[in-house]
Amino acid sequence: MNDRSAGLSEAQLSAYWMPYTGNRQFKRDPRIITSASGCYYLSAEGRQIFDGLSGLWTCGAGHNRREIIESIAQQASTLDYAPAFQFGHPKVFALAEQISQLMPEGLNRIFFTNSGSEAAETSLKIARAYWHKRGQPEKTKLIGRSKGYHGVNFGGISVGGISTNRTMFGSALDSDHLNHTLLSENRFSRGQPLKGDYLADELLELIQLHDAANIAALIIEPMAGSAGVLPPPRGYLERLRKICEQHDILLIFDEVITAFGRMGKATGAEYFGVTPDILNTAKQLTNGAVPMGAVAVRQDIYDTFMEKGGPKYQLELPHGYTYSGHPLACAAALATLGILHREKLFERSSELALILENYIHQLKGLPLIEDIRNCGLAAGLTIQAAPSEPLLHPYLIAMKMWHKGFYIRYSGDTLQLGVPFIAREEDLDGVINALAESILEVANGQ
Ligand SMILES: Cc1ncc(COP(=O)(O)O)c(C=O)c1O
Repeated sequence: MNDRSAGLSEAQLSAYWMPYTGNRQFKRDPRIITSASGCYYLSAEGRQIFDGLSGLWTCGAGHNRREIIESIAQQASTLDYAPAFQFGHPKVFALAEQISQLMPEGLNRIFFTNSGSEAAETSLKIARAYWHKRGQPEKTKLIGRSKGYHGVNFGGISVGGISTNRTMFGSALDSDHLNHTLLSENRFSRGQPLKGDYLADELLELIQLHDAANIAALIIEPMAGSAGVLPPPRGYLERLRKICEQHDILLIFDEVITAFGRMGKATGAEYFGVTPDILNTAKQLTNGAVPMGAVAVRQDIYDTFMEKGGPKYQLELPHGYTYSGHPLACAAALATLGILHREKLFERSSELALILENYIHQLKGLPLIEDIRNCGLAAGLTIQAAPSEPLLHPYLIAMKMWHKGFYIRYSGDTLQLGVPFIAREEDLDGVINALAESILEVANGQ
């Protein structure tokens, strides 16, 4: 067993069925991370690795932040767990109030989950239950979008639009989909592409097909992340907002990637200037330190549940998780929001976004690159397929990057970058140079 395996035995490596991982390849050539600090990981063989995706879009404030660690430790030694149902603990209320301050106006009722996937399920259930409470129980159909990602649970994959996430599992919910907004005429756009607002009118066609009387909600990521950073065309979100309003369809923004700083603002809604009815968050909320998601809901939606809740002791919404608002997650989130605020990291992210845009578009013209996109502190590249191996090139490039000391995400035919908000310009320079080198090496068959 070599150093790269951190001394793990074959039995240990085999026992773990890794998520979203090519297990066979990984276990032959493990990439083990043993510690982290700031923008860097340390690999098992002792190499420093730059974190080009902030973990999984989670750790924008950098790794192992002292305030977060201490807050979690302090909480663990005071109250490790409190029952989430029918009882509460102080931090969960304090956190809900703080999150509500950061959400678009009116979205001030917060439901806690443990992940982005659970946030998706929660938002879809609230949408359906809302219409049920309003006396329109037939409004159940959910509209998603092709290339959308809303986690991996059955609701999320039904409204999601990434085919590989659906084919093995089937679709459980009554759903339909808009087309995605990745238009070839917008290739190499900087920020929001100019063309494509008209794609929003597909919602009118789906309304004609299904009747708004049967549709509960539209769920989209304002900027699709997992499909490879797809910023919305200018005017597109505004148009969807209007159609939803005109036809009594709830608009859910899945902001699991875009909330808490990735767009240089508290939310993508604020960045794009379009307010949904329900807004899902997770990832950056605790800076990745403890799993947590939060769903922000318009107050009048919450009020509907309260007003039509029956006797006061009765549950208004029979939904929740054992670990909803877990004390350790709340401690991590409160410390994270403190850091984001004190260190002005939304502003820092916004400044760095401009630098990233300039650097990433320098890659245009290299072989294999079919498209480059950026928005906020996020960038995506579409990589040309190898003959009969559509997903090989991104994988090979990402592996070369890892061996050069850079972690970036490869997924489908894309590469994705989402550096920490605290990264320096030199870090961006380093990652882009290494990326150019890796792309050339793969293109030349090296
Ligand atoms: C937009 C969006 N929704 C939901 C999820 C699922 O989050 P989780 O992996 O925490 O369940 C993700 C994860 O990348 C996401 O990007």
